Amino acid sequence: MKHTLEETLLSAIRTIPDYPKPGIQFRDITTLLGNARAFRRAVDELVHPWAGSKIDKIAGIEARGFILGGAIAHQLSAGFIPIRKKGKLPHETVRVAYSLEYGLDEMEMHKDAVSAGEKVILVDDLIATGGTAEGAVKLISQMGGEIVAACFVIDLPDLGGRAKLEALGVDVRTLIA
Ligand code: PRP
Ligand code: ADE
Repeated sequence: MKHTLEETLLSAIRTIPDYPKPGIQFRDITTLLGNARAFRRAVDELVHPWAGSKIDKIAGIEARGFILGGAIAHQLSAGFIPIRKKGKLPHETVRVAYSLEYGLDEMEMHKDAVSAGEKVILVDDLIATGGTAEGAVKLISQMGGEIVAACFVIDLPDLGGRAKLEALGVDVRTLIA
């Protein structure tokens, strides 16, 4: 039987209650990554709108955005920019503080990772409050990158992240809510 994209992805994602803090329903994509068919479908769907477009860089947010972003960069023949938690990148960085559904942190990008005018797609597994993605948008914009879109497998719409990014003028693409 043929399953819709939504059925394939929803059934491949596992929910862990009270992780990493009480009250959080953690959407765990490791099961999706381990499912060859679901992983391929997710990457193909995220790539599809940009096939044939000139995209310079894919920016992936640590850690789960690295896995999806690397696959998408390969498909689009684009470079890859790692956006990392503070203290992990060896060269000169730009840094931003941000909040997410279950905490506060800081992230960094190498200053020379993106050049002015480059077309960049931001990738992560999930958007919740949008604090993480908003921080990444600030870093890329600060270095003059043009954010073509921000792409996620999962949207948690009740937490307002999509609306937050759209209010900044970012084109947001998600596969399931
Ligand atoms: C998760 C997820 C996003 C972020 C979304 O990452 O992968 O990056 O939270 O939350 P927000 O929309 O409320 O900002 P996490 O910080 O747990 O890092 P990890 O990928 O290293 O586990
Ligand atoms: N990041 C922020 N909220 C999350 C959630 N509920 N599940 C997985 N990652 C998250």
